[in-house]
Amino acid sequence: MPAERAAEVPPLTVGGVSKVYKSRDRGTVAAVRDVSFTLAPGTAVSLVGASGSGKSTLAKLITGSERPTSGTISFGDANVGRLRAGGLRRLHARVQMVFQDPYSALNPVHTVEYALTRPCQNFLRMTGAQARERVRELLETVGLTPAAQFVEKLPHQLSGGQRQRVLIARALACEPQLMVADEPVSMLDVSLRAGVLTLLADLRRERGLSLLYITHDLLSARVITDEILVLRHGEVVERGQTKRVLQDPQHEYTRQLLAAVPTPGNVTAAGTVPAPNKAAAAASASREHDVTEGRAT
Ligand SMILES: Nc1ncnc2c1ncn2[C@@H]1O[C@H](COP(=O)(O)OP(=O)(O)OP(=O)(O)O)[C@@H](O)[C@H]1O
Ligand SMILES: [Mg+2]
Repeated sequence: MPAERAAEVPPLTVGGVSKVYKSRDRGTVAAVRDVSFTLAPGTAVSLVGASGSGKSTLAKLITGSERPTSGTISFGDANVGRLRAGGLRRLHARVQMVFQDPYSALNPVHTVEYALTRPCQNFLRMTGAQARERVRELLETVGLTPAAQFVEKLPHQLSGGQRQRVLIARALACEPQLMVADEPVSMLDVSLRAGVLTLLADLRRERGLSLLYITHDLLSARVITDEILVLRHGEVVERGQTKRVLQDPQHEYTRQLLAAVPTPGNVTAAGTVPAPNKAAAAASASREHDVTEGRAT
């Protein structure tokens, strides 16, 4: 995103938001309870919690696919919970989501080029030729190079890490201001996770994107985010700067989450890792490539 566009990124404000689901078998479920936070322009926040803590529900509320039972979500001048079809469409040009499952999120009969051309034409009103040019740029951006090797591929011809990169490229296609990434690496092989996380970190830094990163893995939050919100049973039980929360967790639940995560070798006792860099991302992308080519595991 050019610098002048980055300056236009509005804050995301979540104010006293709750979501209650009613289901026949379980009665009412308070999935999200009175959650408030602000995601300042260009910052990255992690939403961390165990399964069922309300992370995806909050993501759906923020992207407008669910409406809050109470409270308000605003992104700039958009009151997200009240948008109708046209407003939601405009929101989705600015707020994009990357999902957990790179295997089901791509249509198996569509090539990479088709998957990426559609949003360029729909959101940016590009001509076919412009969109094809942009698809190549997007593939380069997410480290799928040379792009010509990937445009004609079908999803089953890609590794999980490569598919997730295609999905990130698809989310970037309309030049969003906010990206919501819901457990984007949890279904990937451990060896591919660092590369995708590094890519998100780089994109956020280089494009001035705001990022809401959702994970149950507290330690992965350190790679990309400035702040952590810990969610338990739909409530925020701890929040703070990433480093502080990792080094000095205040809530017992945060300590339990930290204890549950196996510590990778490159994490120091202080919970920090070397800054992500492009060389590492490129190396990781090429390893993913090797997987597809059957040259390495
Ligand atoms: N459409 C729905 N109808 C009824 N209950 C729901 C619905 N969606 C979510 N829930 C319930 O809301 C709670 C929070 O679910 P949510 O999917 O937000 O959790 P999560 O933190 O994303 O979990 P996971 O880490 O497993 O993805 C759970 O108890 C879930 O069963
Ligand atoms: Mg979820």
